[in-house]
Amino acid sequence: MQAKECILQRRSIRRYRSQKLLDEVIEQIVEGARFAPSWANTKAIRYICIQDGALKNAIGACCVEHNQQVVEQAPALFAVVGRRGLSGLNRGQPLPYSSHTPEEWLMVDGGIAVQTLCLSAWDLGIGTLIMGGYPLDEVVRLLELPETDTLIALVAAGYPDEKPTAPRRKELQDILQIR
Ligand SMILES: Cc1cc2nc3c(=O)[nH]c(=O)nc-3n(C[C@H](O)[C@H](O)[C@H](O)COP(=O)(O)O)c2cc1C
Repeated sequence: MQAKECILQRRSIRRYRSQKLLDEVIEQIVEGARFAPSWANTKAIRYICIQDGALKNAIGACCVEHNQQVVEQAPALFAVVGRRGLSGLNRGQPLPYSSHTPEEWLMVDGGIAVQTLCLSAWDLGIGTLIMGGYPLDEVVRLLELPETDTLIALVAAGYPDEKPTAPRRKELQDILQIR
């Protein structure tokens, strides 16, 4: 699939077929995501793919209501995790000239990684849903993340069982200034 086609056609998927994702397919998805750019190539992003029913159900159960069903139905759930102490820093030390805090830069790295993961999945015919509606502390506890790590986002994944129409976007003239 061409990059532009993948960017334009990717949709958030909220209904999935029950077909599991093979380990090789999960690896292929993350193989694409690992090429996402990061602050000074510090590569602070990690991926946990949850297919275990008990853990996925426990995470799903604490999500906001409209995400519960999605997590329950999706055959896989990615936790995109950011490792602190790398992004926005120079060998772990603060930079006097950095425009944002290390926490903010880690979220930027995480956002880039999340979208790269979604595009990498879509290219393989797999739909995703980025989710922000869940209690962070509770999900971090369920995932047993170490203190060094923070959760960037949950991303449901699976073969689509729906073909949503594209939600409207703003017109170019409303979002672009060429100065
Ligand atoms: C940071 C972020 C958080 C999101 N959180 C949720 C969520 O919790 N639940 C949900 O159903 N969709 C969520 N979405 C999906 C958006 O609603 C969706 O991307 C948007 O409506 C555009 O649709 P599209 O992805 O099909 O282009 C989230 C998207 C982003 C980027």
